[in-house]
Amino acid sequence: MKVAVVYESRTGNTARAAEMIAAAAQELGHEVGVWPTRKVNLDFLKEADLVFVGTWTDGIVIAGHRPGDAGRLLDLPGIWGKPTAGFLTYAIHAGKVLDGLADVVKLRGGDWIGGNLFKRSRLPEGIAAFTIAALDEAQARLGVNAQADADA
Ligand SMILES: Cc1cc2nc3c(=O)[nH]c(=O)nc-3n(C[C@H](O)[C@H](O)[C@H](O)COP(=O)(O)O)c2cc1C
Repeated sequence: MKVAVVYESRTGNTARAAEMIAAAAQELGHEVGVWPTRKVNLDFLKEADLVFVGTWTDGIVIAGHRPGDAGRLLDLPGIWGKPTAGFLTYAIHAGKVLDGLADVVKLRGGDWIGGNLFKRSRLPEGIAAFTIAALDEAQARLGVNAQADADA
């Protein structure tokens, strides 16, 4: 599959998580591109079978959690109808920030397949399993879509 990993990062943690996801997918033989949102290769994104979208957790630690720099994610073109998985890094407590990222992806027309939180001090814990699960889910959805197209 063609896999695009797109992220926002201010201090490098989410960039590191993005590179780890990209490496895990590449190791499994997928064609992978990884960029910050403002530098996305739009041709690659347009052809991608699976998109990972990631950012950092913004909030006041105990409340008000939201995806950081969500405006830039909302500018992201080209994920309409594509299986899209979300990832967020955080420091201490991220509340329901994943729900916020799911909303952003859905607003852009992405087909939300789930997401994961990653504690910045524990990277790369959980990255490989998350990547594999997203690849499996995308494969399943694409299989279903291909069948639906064939049946039409
Ligand atoms: C303005 C601001 C608000 C933050 N709010 C939270 C928060 O509510 N909960 C939390 O666990 N981490 C919070 N963080 C920490 C970041 O989410 C965390 O360090 C993240 O890994 C940063 O990602 P980056 O290095 O890709 O920019 C906040 C950071 C900033 C700059």
